[in-house]
Amino acid sequence: MNIQPAKRLASIDSPSFSELYDAKKKYTERTGQEVIDFSIGSSNIPPHNQVKEALADAAKEDESYQYSLAPSKEIIDAIRQWYAKRYNVQLNEEEIITVKGSQEALSHIPLALCDENDLVLIPDPYYPIYGVAPKLAGANIYYMPLKEENDYLIDFDKIPEEIAKQAKLMYVSYPNNPTGKKAPDSFYEQLIEFATKNDIIVLHDNAYSELVFEEPLGKSFLAFEGAKNIGFELNSFSKSYSMGGARLAVMVGNKQVIDIYKKMINMTDFQAFGAIQKAGIQALAQADHFVPALRKEYKRRRDFFIEEMEKAGWQIQVPEATMFVWAKIPEHYSDSAKFNKDLLEKAGVLANAGTSFGQEGKRYVRFALVRDDDEVKEAARRIAQSQIISKI
Ligand SMILES: Cc1ncc(COP(=O)(O)O)c(C=O)c1O
Repeated sequence: MNIQPAKRLASIDSPSFSELYDAKKKYTERTGQEVIDFSIGSSNIPPHNQVKEALADAAKEDESYQYSLAPSKEIIDAIRQWYAKRYNVQLNEEEIITVKGSQEALSHIPLALCDENDLVLIPDPYYPIYGVAPKLAGANIYYMPLKEENDYLIDFDKIPEEIAKQAKLMYVSYPNNPTGKKAPDSFYEQLIEFATKNDIIVLHDNAYSELVFEEPLGKSFLAFEGAKNIGFELNSFSKSYSMGGARLAVMVGNKQVIDIYKKMINMTDFQAFGAIQKAGIQALAQADHFVPALRKEYKRRRDFFIEEMEKAGWQIQVPEATMFVWAKIPEHYSDSAKFNKDLLEKAGVLANAGTSFGQEGKRYVRFALVRDDDEVKEAARRIAQSQIISKI
C-alpha cells in the first residue's frame, strides 16, 4: 500500500533537518570541530530550584498520575494573582485555561475558530507555527509585512480594506520573535481599533514580556481597553521561567474564545501533567527572584554577542527584547539561505535563515542567545577567519 499524507499536510513545506544534520556532520569530519549551534531558542539556563523541587515532589505523588481533566484550582488562582500583580489585568475563572505550551494553542486555535477558506492575518516574519496552523485548518493566510523602516510593527493602513473585512483571526506577537522589537502602547491601541472595526479575533502571543531590556517592561495585550472584547493572549512558561521542556502556558482573555477552545480540548485531549502544573505555580511564586536575574543574563549575552560580532566585522542592530538577534546579512549575499549555508560550511556556525520565518526574512539570519561566552567568542573568531562578512 502506498500511503500518502493528507493534501493539507503535503501542501506545507517543512524545513529539511536531514540536510542540516548532514551539513553539520560534514563540517565536523572536515575540520575536527563541532558546529556552534545558535539555531534553536531552547534556553540553557535552568529553572529556579524550587520549580525543580516542586516537580520532583509532585512526581512522587500517586494522584499526579491521574488524568488532569481541568487546570487545578491552585493554578487558576496563581494565574489570576500573577496577571493582577504583574500586568494589572483582572481575570475571572472563565477567562483562563492552561495549555501544554503556547505551541499547543497556536497550532489548534484555527481548528477551533476557522472554517475552510476563512482568512487569517499573520505577520511576516513570523514564528513558524503561525504559517502552518491556519493551513492545517483549511484557512487562507494574508501576510502583514514587518519592515525595518516601520520599526517592525504591523502597518494597519497597508492592509487592504477588503482583506480586513474578510479576516476572521489575526496572530500578533510583541516583543517579537525573530525581530527582537517591542511595541509601544499606541500600537496596541491601533490594533484594538482595527480589530474591533473589522470584527477580527486577535491572538496575542506574549512569550517574551519578561525579556525586555530597557524600561518599560513588556505589558499584557489585555491591559489595553477593549482587548478582551476582541481577543485573547497566550503566555508561555518556556522563556520567562526556563521551562520549555515542561510544557506549560496560559491562554487568557475573551470568554467566548476560551469556551470554544475548552470545548475542543475537552473532546480531543487532557490538561498538562499535574506535577507540571505544580511546578508552574512555584515558577510564578518565585518570579520576583528568578525573572530579574534571567533578564539581566540575556541582556549580558546580547551585549556580548553584538560586541564579539562587531570585532569580527559584523555590525548588527541591537535587539530591544527576546532571546534572539536578527542580523542583516552582508550586501554581497543575495539571500539568507545561501549566507546561512556559508556560515555553516565556512565558519561552522549555525543560525536560522531568515526565510524560515517568511519572505520578509530574506536579508536576515536569526541567532538564539543560548550559547556560553567561550562559544560566542569562538563563533566570532571563526566568522572573522572565514571572511564571509568582510565585504559588508
Ligand atoms: C513567539 C513564540 N511563541 C511561542 C513559542 C513557543 O512557546 P511554548 O514553548 O510555550 O510552546 C515560542 C518559542 O520559541 C515563540 O518564540
